[in-house]
Amino acid sequence: MKLETKRLILRTPKISDWKDIVEGIGNLKVSKNVSSVPYPYKKKDALDWINKQIKESKKKKKKGYSFVIELKSEKKIIGGSGLHKLNLENGTAETGSWIAEPYWRKGFATEAKIAINNFAFDKLKLIRLESRSFIDNKASNQMSKKLGLKLEGTLRQSEKCKATRKVHDANIWGILKEGWKKKHKIK
Ligand SMILES: CC(C)(COP(=O)(O)OP(=O)(O)OC[C@H]1O[C@@H](n2cnc3c(N)ncnc32)[C@H](O)[C@@H]1OP(=O)(O)O)[C@@H](O)C(=O)NCCC(=O)NCCS
Repeated sequence: MKLETKRLILRTPKISDWKDIVEGIGNLKVSKNVSSVPYPYKKKDALDWINKQIKESKKKKKKGYSFVIELKSEKKIIGGSGLHKLNLENGTAETGSWIAEPYWRKGFATEAKIAINNFAFDKLKLIRLESRSFIDNKASNQMSKKLGLKLEGTLRQSEKCKATRKVHDANIWGILKEGWKKKHKIK
C-alpha cells in the first residue's frame, strides 16, 4: 500500500526502515505522547512492529493500515501514521501519527494526514474518523483542531503511556466525511 504527496511517500514499512524508526520514535519527546511505544525503544521493537505490519498488510480483512512516512528529498523515514481499529461495517477508524523531532512544525504530519484521511473517506468509504490525544499534548490537539476535527469529549484516565507509565486523560477528536470534504474543499 502506497500513497504519495508532494514531499512524502506513505507506504507499508520494510525491514530496512528499522534504523530510522528507532532514531525517530526512540526519542522520549515522541514516545511520551503516545500510548503503545516502549522506552527505551530497541532494534527488536522496531523489527517486531515492522514484521507485524507486513503481515497485516497482506491480510484481506485488515484491522488497519500502518504507513511509514518517507521524506522524498532525503529518502529517510521521518515518521509514521495510520488508520487503526478499522471497522468497515460501521465506516469508522482511529488515526494516529508521529514525526521525528528534527522534522517537527514543517507541515509533514498535516500533509500525511490529509492523504490518509482522503484515502479513508474516498477509497475505504468511511464516514467517521477519530483521533485521541493526551490532554497535555498541545501539538497533537492543535493539529486536530487545525485539520477541522471537533473536540467531542474527554475520557478521564483512559490511556496509559507505555514509555512513561503515566496515566492520561485523553481528548477525543472526530470528523465526519461531509465535514472533511467541506473543510478541505473536496467535491
Ligand atoms: C503531533 C505531531 C505529529 C505534529 O507533527 P508536525 O509535523 O510537527 O505537525 P505540523 O507541522 O503538520 O503542524 C500542524 C499544526 O499542528 C499544530 N502544532 C504542531 N506542533 C505544535 C507545537 N509544538 N505547539 C503548538 N502547536 C503545534 C500547529 O497548529 C500546526 O500548524 P502551524 O505550524 O501552521 O501553526 C508531532 O509533534 C509529534 O510527532 N509529536 C510526538 C508524538 C505525538 O504527539 N503524536 C500524536 C499522538 S496523538
